[in-house]
Amino acid sequence: MSGANWYYKTPLFKQNLRSKSSAEVPQIFIKYENLQPGGSFKSRGVGNLISVKSRNGLNKSHVLSSSGGNAGLAAAVASKQMNLPCTVVVPTSTKQRMVRKISDNGAKVVIRGSHWKEADDYLKENYMKKFQEDGTSNPIYVHPFEDPKIWEGHSTMIYEIMNILQEQNIPVDNVRGIVCSVGGGGLFNGIIRGLEDCGLAHKIPVIAVETHGCDVLNASLEAGRPVTLDKITSLATSLGSSYIPQSVFDNAARYGAKSIVLNDKSVIETCLKYADDFGQIVEPACGASIHVGYHPELLENCLGTFSKEDVIVIIACGGSAATFDDLTDASKRFSAA
Ligand SMILES: Cc1ncc(COP(=O)(O)O)c(C=O)c1O
Repeated sequence: MSGANWYYKTPLFKQNLRSKSSAEVPQIFIKYENLQPGGSFKSRGVGNLISVKSRNGLNKSHVLSSSGGNAGLAAAVASKQMNLPCTVVVPTSTKQRMVRKISDNGAKVVIRGSHWKEADDYLKENYMKKFQEDGTSNPIYVHPFEDPKIWEGHSTMIYEIMNILQEQNIPVDNVRGIVCSVGGGGLFNGIIRGLEDCGLAHKIPVIAVETHGCDVLNASLEAGRPVTLDKITSLATSLGSSYIPQSVFDNAARYGAKSIVLNDKSVIETCLKYADDFGQIVEPACGASIHVGYHPELLENCLGTFSKEDVIVIIACGGSAATFDDLTDASKRFSAA
């Protein structure tokens, strides 16, 4: 565990994702955020937000989340670590397995609404408002990605990456980019925050990976302003945000983030290949970033050619929302189509 007890310092390992005979150019390092107690990087930011806000309250804190995905699970796990009550309102579309994981961690799960916004409205109307009005609890609202305390928590992964590279005598100048998946951009903003703190935000570009149907950052960059998606269609459900905050757009523009959009089929194939190669199941949201490691030509398209010293760091963001059966079923559906 880190000094804090809601997230782990995770390993950063160099991995050869291509065939044994191929040149390892650039060198690919994977940061294993899928090993966090909540199964994803969310443990860092969500835990930080809860920790800071529970210290500020005079009354006993009560954690409130409306995410049926990794943010809700991270809220439940962190609340359990901090001995705080937690209620998670999830939409009916939430997988039974995630409902079980969240409640196994001691949170009360309420199922309401057909999508996140309806669950979130219910949470605010029936829990936030009630706690604020009757004053019995200090409600801590956990947004899945939009809060500076979340970004601050996520930024800790950058200090770890830089320390590990230094221990291995790898000059920071060799790092050509950091690859991360983008939903609402909380992870992206956290990486930028960490790079800013290390004085590296203008030096190391972030390669932001999305899937078709969840490509709100790419659409926003093309439009020159943040846009809203009408619907979410990708299988990478954890990337399913219809908007990005203005600060995500501004950071992407200011620091020249590169944008890659992939199709679901190739991401599912990568998840299965990665499971076969390394014995780890990652969900499509994470497979999208790993796909880029298997296909350095995608990196070359946005960063130019590489030398053998060059390093790319890929954030393996999480794996809770998929099983091996989910991945093989999706793959069969693509083959049938
Ligand atoms: C595994 C995983 N990867 C990536 C993301 C996208 O994160 P963000 O919404 O911070 O961009 C999420 C969000 O839930 C996630 O669970």
